[in-house]
Amino acid sequence: MTRGRFITFEGGEGAGKSTQARLLVEQLQARGISVVLTREPGGSEGAEALRNLLVIGDADRWTPTAETLLMYAGRSDHLTRLIRPALAAGTWVVCDRFSDSTRAYQGAGGGVSSDFIDAIEAEVVGADRPDLTLIFDMPVELGLERAFGRDMFEARFESKGLAFHERLREAFLHIAKADPGRCALIDAGGTLDEVAEQVWSTVASRLELTP
Ligand SMILES: Nc1ncnc2c1ncn2[C@@H]1O[C@H](COP(=O)(O)OP(=O)(O)OP(=O)(O)O)[C@@H](O)[C@H]1O
Ligand SMILES: [Mg+2]
Repeated sequence: MTRGRFITFEGGEGAGKSTQARLLVEQLQARGISVVLTREPGGSEGAEALRNLLVIGDADRWTPTAETLLMYAGRSDHLTRLIRPALAAGTWVVCDRFSDSTRAYQGAGGGVSSDFIDAIEAEVVGADRPDLTLIFDMPVELGLERAFGRDMFEARFESKGLAFHERLREAFLHIAKADPGRCALIDAGGTLDEVAEQVWSTVASRLELTP
């Protein structure tokens, strides 16, 4: 059995990750590829329960360290119950946010040290890193405008202020630059079709899909 491929979508609020992850899954399915769409925080029953603790409430509900531990508690469950079994069965996994969001939000945004995150990452994720990570980049104001136009319920992180979101953007750009073999930058400021085109051509070339 050929192992499935693991693709993650990363980047700031309202950049179009969830929209494009759905479109990519449809494209892959149309090619006969077995694929599951999932998300973080969440993705398994236990991790979805933790998600509600993380995304609802006041911006300062958790310390960044507590947030990091909750994120990795959920990630561990998600990997064990959904991601690893799917990949082993040959199913592709498309995940809407993953470890890079922890590095950006709790690390660069919240001040949690990269040594601490590296240590938990090694234990929880280990060798099961994504084969490809698409990092959606766009001006912070545009992303927040899109996100606020959408919903105000899961708005805990959206409510953290412009400077916080600028730090996130820098952090995601830094991650893309530091790990070019895994990451590809997507210019997310275009129309839905333009971004979908970039996503598809990047997936096809990086993962060597035949046209
Ligand atoms: N290319 C685009 N042009 C204009 N609007 C878009 C585009 N892509 C997505 N949108 C809209 O912007 C809003 C945010 O998109 P989406 O929810 O996909 O972003 P996201 O990156 O998943 O956000 P979050 O980080 O908050 O989960 C939605 O209302 C969506 O319909
Ligand atoms: Mg989303």
